[in-house]
Amino acid sequence: MRRRSLLLLCASGLGLLSLLQLHQALRALVSGRQHRREIFLSGVTPPNHGAPSMVPTSAEPVDLYLRSFHLSDDMNEYYYVTPSGFRCLKEGSQRQPSSSLQSTLTSRGRIYELAGVKGEHCFCRPGWHGPHCSIPTVAQHSNLPSRGDLRLRTSPRRVLNVVNVNHELDLLEARFNELRGTVDVFVVCESNYTAYGEPRTLLFHRALHNGSFAATQGHLLYVFLDHFPAGGRQNGWVADDYLRTYASQQGLARIWGLRPDDLFVINDADELPLREGILFLKLHDGWPEPVGIHLRPSIYGFFWRQPGSLQVLTASTVRTLTEIYNSDGILLRRRHYYDMPGFRDYERRSQKRLAEWALGSSLHLAGWHCSWCFSPEGILHKLISAQNGDFPRWGDYPEKRDLVYIRELVRTGGWFDGTLRDLPMANPSERLYAPRNIPYPLQSWTNQASHH
Ligand SMILES: *[C@@H]1O[C@H](CO)[C@@H](O)[C@H](O)[C@H]1NC(C)=O
Ligand SMILES: *[C@@H]1O[C@H](CO)[C@@H](O)[C@H](O)[C@H]1NC(C)=O
Repeated sequence: MRRRSLLLLCASGLGLLSLLQLHQALRALVSGRQHRREIFLSGVTPPNHGAPSMVPTSAEPVDLYLRSFHLSDDMNEYYYVTPSGFRCLKEGSQRQPSSSLQSTLTSRGRIYELAGVKGEHCFCRPGWHGPHCSIPTVAQHSNLPSRGDLRLRTSPRRVLNVVNVNHELDLLEARFNELRGTVDVFVVCESNYTAYGEPRTLLFHRALHNGSFAATQGHLLYVFLDHFPAGGRQNGWVADDYLRTYASQQGLARIWGLRPDDLFVINDADELPLREGILFLKLHDGWPEPVGIHLRPSIYGFFWRQPGSLQVLTASTVRTLTEIYNSDGILLRRRHYYDMPGFRDYERRSQKRLAEWALGSSLHLAGWHCSWCFSPEGILHKLISAQNGDFPRWGDYPEKRDLVYIRELVRTGGWFDGTLRDLPMANPSERLYAPRNIPYPLQSWTNQASHH
């Protein structure tokens, strides 16, 4: 008798639980719908995430402390599946060239090969490699060791992109346009202090409220830094590092549902990774950590191309970040994983070998580094708010704060010390000239410069 009532109790408990779950699922569905509609309106392909939108609802900074983000599974369908169950990455694959006899693309998007192939084969588009056409050129032509270890995951990892913002709103929009749909959550950290310790307006927060980033709002976690670190005024690098530490640790603490194999990517606002490289990390297992990126350096816009490539260390799994780097993105960027305490232990425990490598090469760039990519007014702003470590501080010289002077620098590719850089002007039609869909202010600078 007692057992039966216990069972009954359990059963009703379970019933209650599933009712609750149903309720939650319905709520997620409703907010997901609204979110998707918002995205449709702005003309961007809707991702399949049902993550509730975590947009600030009030302009009061007070509510910013409590924000959190629920990271859900990435349910996007990345693959075509052949009848024998073999997966081909949709964006890397094409129908078999030149023959409607040999391959048919059905309305459900599957690729069938006829002529003798047993369906264990994909046909890659240019720029994609590997049996599943899932390896982009920037991974193929990189120093990635032991390619044989690569395996296509059954479900994609989720990707966090952590970035600090000052007044680089156009570059932020360029980042969102490039990476939305591949990055699951952008953790954007903004402070009411400049890197020099002066008060500043929360520009990004304001832009969120006036709808400037509507298309990305469902994938944003806003982190508010309300204080200035001790020692930041004497040494600007302290302030700079502190921002990244704070952004990483607060970001991780406020994301629910993180998994050890999720991908953590930390960037400065002017470092924009190429989407295909991040997608590669998202879809595969078997690459070593930490991961760097070769960036295409340019100044004032994407048009003044600087020579070579700039390599930054930028990504690791969440597990490595928490167990080796103390959840601190700045430690990841510093390349000192082999000095970190517990490094050997971690390798043993996780059966991983920590070994640095980088997406891309100096020929096949895997992103952009755009310095001083602002309007002349933005450049002036940056001069004035430059942190106390970048010497000389050009903002201290009145003649350098003249907009006419700054416009001339941008037009000629000159620098504040009076030198001309003699840079080649890049052709906007060249491959990987700039991230996709760069916002108008960055475009107009392109146009303006190429008219002179
Ligand atoms: C920054 O925000 C915090 C919290 O609202 C506040 O206490 C502090 O005075 C602000 N600092 C500036 C410079 O506005
Ligand atoms: C929104 O706010 C940002 C930052 O203050 C500003 O640059 C932008 O012009 C505003 N946009 C609109 C549509 O009001």
